Amino acid sequence: MKQKIVSGMRPTGKLHLGHYLGVIDNWVKLQNDYDCYFFIADWHALTTKYDKTENMIDDVRNVAMDWLASGIDPQKSTIYVQSLVPETAELHIYLSMITPQNWVERDPTLKDMAKILKSKEGIGTQVNYGLMGYPVLMTADILTFNAEFVPVGIDQVAHVELTRDIARRFNHIYKTEFFNEPQPKLNNCSLICGLDGNKMGKSFNNDIKISDTEEVTAKKVMTAITDRSRLRKDDLGHPDECEVAFKYWKIFGTEDEIATVREECEKGLRGCAQCKRELGAKINARFAEIREKRAYYEAHPEIVDKIIRDGSEKARIEAQKVLKEVRSIIKMY
Ligand code: TRP
Ligand code: SF4
Repeated sequence: MKQKIVSGMRPTGKLHLGHYLGVIDNWVKLQNDYDCYFFIADWHALTTKYDKTENMIDDVRNVAMDWLASGIDPQKSTIYVQSLVPETAELHIYLSMITPQNWVERDPTLKDMAKILKSKEGIGTQVNYGLMGYPVLMTADILTFNAEFVPVGIDQVAHVELTRDIARRFNHIYKTEFFNEPQPKLNNCSLICGLDGNKMGKSFNNDIKISDTEEVTAKKVMTAITDRSRLRKDDLGHPDECEVAFKYWKIFGTEDEIATVREECEKGLRGCAQCKRELGAKINARFAEIREKRAYYEAHPEIVDKIIRDGSEKARIEAQKVLKEVRSIIKMY
């Protein structure tokens, strides 16, 4: 039997190349070797955005469309929506009973989130009970399928450590070996920075979306930061100080192309505008097929909804097996 993998993403709307290169592309590869459960974490979204739910349905659909277009295959992987698998909520309750308060209080991500929330105005600025329990909910996500591995970015490793701690504590308290201690599976992809050189993010206005058109992509790429010391086309360039454009070349170009760009840049034979036009075309070529697939799903939202609902049903069946066992281990009525 294949080992199980669980991973989730918040429904933040249309995803960008950072999501694609940092997470989704890795999932696409994993789905051949593992029994994968990929979910859209709508409850996690509520922990901080419970008062901004007007776009929830669209946001969930957009994430699903980006996944499907990128090659997450519902024949291979189970794609589901967190809130459509209520077994996770039940498991969250059992786990919350055995998780010491100070284990969640020391969560570094939570401290950061609390700081961000407090810096804002209006409702939704305090740390609610649900947000406090966020790492325990994440534990429930993973243990609902008794997964072996959790592919995450480095920022989430502390949460998977907590998952291991809680799983071990459960096993100890109830004198069982039922839960695995899941391991984080770090991907080795290079992180893509935003067009301005900072972390790529929706709210920073520096991203390229998977779903952007070729025109929009080309335009955005023209704004990518280059070698700031270079004023004229025939100035000698320094690719290693070309803050964004050359980094993108290293991600999207072939070895030969990267070498050519480097050489021409250093000799002053390549203007930055031309360089970025070629880069834009390169990125567009890479995403052409994905965007074509996405357009198909956009035109057929009913197909997307069916995939999500079928996947969630399938996930529930597996989750129910685990919960049945858990109830019996705890000796619930
Ligand atoms: N916390 C993750 C994030 O913010 C999303 C997430 C929720 C997750 N539950 C998970 C990831 C379970 C992996 C496994 O990115
Ligand atoms: Fe960067 Fe290309 Fe300009 Fe060189 S020519 S500085 S690699 S954008």
